[in-house]
Amino acid sequence: MADKKARLTVDGLEEAIELPVYSGSEGPDVIDVRPLTGKGLFTYDPGFVSTAACESKITYIDGAKGVLLHGGYPIEQLAEKSDYLEVCYLLMNGELPDAEQKEKFVNTIKNHTMVHEQMSHFFNGFRRDAHPMSIMVACVGALSAFYHDSLDINDARHREVCAYRLIAKMPTLAAMCYKYSIGMPFQYPRNDLSYAENFLQMMFGNPCEEYVPNPVLAKAMDKIFLLHADHEQNASTSTVRLAGSSGANPFACIASGVAALWGPAHGGANEAVLTMLEEIGDESRIEEFVAKAKDPNDPFRLMGFGHRVYRNFDPRAKVMKATCDQVLAELGIEDEPLLKIAKRLEQIALEDEYFVARKLYPNVDFYSGIILKAIGIPTSMFTVIFAMSRTIGWISHWSEFHSSPNKIGRPRQLYTGPSAREYDN
Ligand code: CMC
Repeated sequence: MADKKARLTVDGLEEAIELPVYSGSEGPDVIDVRPLTGKGLFTYDPGFVSTAACESKITYIDGAKGVLLHGGYPIEQLAEKSDYLEVCYLLMNGELPDAEQKEKFVNTIKNHTMVHEQMSHFFNGFRRDAHPMSIMVACVGALSAFYHDSLDINDARHREVCAYRLIAKMPTLAAMCYKYSIGMPFQYPRNDLSYAENFLQMMFGNPCEEYVPNPVLAKAMDKIFLLHADHEQNASTSTVRLAGSSGANPFACIASGVAALWGPAHGGANEAVLTMLEEIGDESRIEEFVAKAKDPNDPFRLMGFGHRVYRNFDPRAKVMKATCDQVLAELGIEDEPLLKIAKRLEQIALEDEYFVARKLYPNVDFYSGIILKAIGIPTSMFTVIFAMSRTIGWISHWSEFHSSPNKIGRPRQLYTGPSAREYDN
């Protein structure tokens, strides 16, 4: 596989160290640094800025060109022609399903939408005002106590059943978090509805009347799920792979992904965007917040702007912006004050020298927050929706990790603490 070689000279070493260089099907070459350990050296790369931690066939991103491919298909084409469950199939299997495979897959997911009835008692232990992400971390981890018949991580069929269960049950758990917070009864899933319609039904329906989903909102919801489905080795996916590398229970691994996603630098950004827009409150205060974001001595950042990998535009944000326009038109809320602030911020970021020079474009979370708010989803649920959408990415990477020979993840460090010393008290 190594078609090239790199040579590293290190002061104090007589000979250069030869390192294999691999080429993938797309993207930069990678230097295999494993021979360094034998020479008493480690590499140093906090934040994994220059480190490929694994080989993967699932998703490819070219941040400079603003390209995102799942199984080779551009995200824009998938968003236009496909739907979330089809993309789930693609991420799990590497190929799009034919009509028969798709129908079978959709029906299988529907067969798993309910959660064990005992799970509903679990919620009672939480305060009603608990953040739904705190409940999600706990409930997803708790799934590991229920589904013991699919836990052999070395069995491909078990891994597949685990994935079905997670894709199917995450929306049910997410909606239960919301219903619990407002003191309403949990809504059972309805398998006559599509995946997105059913989620809206579990969120906004009640046992007293039949819920009729709005097709524009259901389509927008499906697009939000699809655009968040996977994003290669981001912080939460890498966390799931690392947790999985010890052979841990799959549901517990996914819970670790939910935890890693929660932070505002990652999935928590969609909630942080709305909190920020509310804090700005009025167009007259925008300049003040932009100045804070530009001040190197102020840790404040404009939420929903910038991305570690995309240094051009985020292709998901383009699709999300178009969806945002459709939803706002459908609901007739173009004049919403927060939206005006959002639009002004977007304009500033695209024109202001600070943001242009650093290539800080609006990212996917900037627009998804606005759509979710318009649909009537409370801000605290935004990251939960990201987590349920990303579950397919997490479980696909977890399964890919286990389907070939692997090693436990164990980074090393540059130690700068005290050298060995005597205990002489
Ligand atoms: N507002 C103001 N300045 C920023 C921002 C921002 N949102 N993001 C980056 N910068 C500046 C940063 O201060 C630095 O400036 P300088 O070179 O003068 O020191 C420069 O841009 C490069 O930033 P960085 O911290 O080296 O970039 P990073 O790749 O480590 O961070 C990021 C990426 C997404 C964590 C960061 O842009 C950020 O915190 N954005 C806001 C949070 C956000 O929207 N996150 C969602 C990401 S998309 C969803 C997902 O994939 O999870």
